[in-house]
Amino acid sequence: MKLYRAKDYNDMSRKAASIISAQILMKPNCVLGLATGSTPIGAYRQLVDWYAQGDLDFSEVTTVNLDEYKGLTRDNPQSYYYFMNEHLFSKVNICKSRTFLPDGTEPDSHTACENYNETLRAVGAADLQLLGLGHNGHIGFNEPGEYFPTETHCIDLSEQTIKANARFFQTMDEVPRQAYTMGIKTILSARKILIIVSGEDKADIVNTAFSGPVTPRVPASILQLHGNVTLVADEAALSKFQKG
Ligand code: F6R
Repeated sequence: MKLYRAKDYNDMSRKAASIISAQILMKPNCVLGLATGSTPIGAYRQLVDWYAQGDLDFSEVTTVNLDEYKGLTRDNPQSYYYFMNEHLFSKVNICKSRTFLPDGTEPDSHTACENYNETLRAVGAADLQLLGLGHNGHIGFNEPGEYFPTETHCIDLSEQTIKANARFFQTMDEVPRQAYTMGIKTILSARKILIIVSGEDKADIVNTAFSGPVTPRVPASILQLHGNVTLVADEAALSKFQKG
C-alpha cells in the first residue's frame, strides 16, 4: 500500500484530486469508481476547479458509484444521485448517460442489485476506485459481518452508520435503514484503489483496518490484499497508524 501523508483535509483533497486527474489525463475514457460522504467533497471541488480552468476534460469518462440509499428518490437532497450531481456531474462536462449509481427507487432489492451488477459488468473494471472509510471499517456500505459480500447487495445499515448519517436528516425517522451497495469483490476488481481519510475520529479505524488482521469484521482490511492501493490521509487520521 502506498501512503501519502497530508497536512489536513484540504491537503488530502488536493492530493486525491491530483491522483484522479492523473488517471483522467492518462486515460481520457477511463472508468472511475466514485464515493459519496463528506470526505470526497473537497477532492470533487478541486476537480471542478481544474475543469473550470480548462485543465481537465470529463467528456469520455464513465463513472460507477459505490452505493445508494434504498427508498430515496433522485430529487431527494440526501440521495447519492443528488449528491453526485451537486458536487461533480452538473459542474463538469461528463456525459450523464455514462454516470451510474444503483437505483434507490427500485423497491425490489433483487432487481435493483441484479440491474446494477449487469451495469457494472457492461462497464468493466474501474481503472481507479475512490473510497472513503466508515468509522466501523465499512467501504461502500459493506458493513462489518461474518463474510465479505461479493457483488451488489441490499444492506441493513448498522446502528453506528445510521447514527453517523443522522446529521444529514431532519429527524431520525427519515434516516434510511437500507442501502444498495457494490460488493467487495467488485471493489477489489478495480485496477487501482484510492482511499481517502481525514480526521482524528478515524484514527483508530485507520490503524485497525491497515495494521490489523484481514477480517470481514473490518471490511476495509481486505484492501491489504489488493496490489495497488493508495491511502491518502491527513495527520489526524494517521495519528494512531502503527504501520505509518
Ligand atoms: C459513500 C460510502 C461510504 C463512505 C463512508 C465514510 O459512498 O461508500 O463508505 O465513504 O461512510 O463517510 P464520510 O466520508 O462521510 O466519513
